[in-house]
Amino acid sequence: MNEHYSYFYGLMNISIIGTGNLAFHFSEIFMSNIDINLIEIFGRKKTLPKEFNNSINYCNCLTKLKEADFYIICVSDDYIKKISKKITTKRNNIVLHCSGSTKMDVLSDHLSHGVFYPIQTFSKEKKISFKEIPIAIESNSDRNLKKIRKLGSLLSEKVLIASSNQRLAIHVSAVFANNFTNYMRVIADEILKSNSIDTNILNPLTVETTEKLKFLNSKNAQTGPAIRNDIKTIKKHLHLLKGSNHFKIYETISKEITKLNNEL
Ligand SMILES: NC(=O)c1ccc[n+]([C@@H]2O[C@H](COP(=O)([O-])OP(=O)(O)OC[C@H]3O[C@@H](n4cnc5c(N)ncnc54)[C@H](OP(=O)(O)O)[C@@H]3O)[C@@H](O)[C@H]2O)c1
Repeated sequence: MNEHYSYFYGLMNISIIGTGNLAFHFSEIFMSNIDINLIEIFGRKKTLPKEFNNSINYCNCLTKLKEADFYIICVSDDYIKKISKKITTKRNNIVLHCSGSTKMDVLSDHLSHGVFYPIQTFSKEKKISFKEIPIAIESNSDRNLKKIRKLGSLLSEKVLIASSNQRLAIHVSAVFANNFTNYMRVIADEILKSNSIDTNILNPLTVETTEKLKFLNSKNAQTGPAIRNDIKTIKKHLHLLKGSNHFKIYETISKEITKLNNEL
């Protein structure tokens, strides 16, 4: 497919490289978008995993990929560079990766390259709407940036330009906001289970913790014994956690939250 043909008719031809969580969600949204033609998915398995729509063309040989306007690499960060080197491209074929912490220039073997990083957590098991997901983009040229922005705007209302360093900062902050928060819930569930209490009782609290941030900034939303400086309560909690791995985490984070008091 040549570039003039596909852009003239407004159709973007896309190949997805990878069959993991993000690849799955991209395949779903691309299949449902009339301006996008998902030409194929590459994976290293023999066949396309069964969660994917079985009408999608599947290829397990990188050197046999069909020509596409965009090759979107959705593999583990450590393999982006190695895999991208095996893709053959012409000047107008744009190779993108989707990683928060990988510099754009790992793709510099390709004349047209960039980054397409959706700031969201994706698991195959959970449906998601792309409309409100911010997508951080970067490119090696203004011309390509325009095309990448167009692709982003077909999926989301929030496309932003971010340099590789800015994207790294976004990713670190996302680790705090999402991965660490979720790990806190892992600890909370363990504590409840070891006391024979249903872990679902925390669900409304977990939902409200996030909902509240639509109305208050994160510092003002902080509640709990540490921000109130309720020393006796903190001591009771530490006593309960004595001897467990969670003691240190509780103590360290409580100290940091107490410091917030001075800033409010
Ligand atoms: N999931 C998210 O929440 C999220 C959000 C934003 C950005 N991202 C970015 O999206 C990219 C993909 O993440 P993901 O969460 O979708 O990962 P994932 O679910 O763990 O899937 C990783 C994919 O990489 C493939 N892969 C790993 N090593 C490979 C190798 N040596 N050769 C060929 N394929 C290989 C895996 O193949 P097999 O299935 O055969 O093992 C799998 O298809 C990453 O760059 C990540 O930073 C992810």
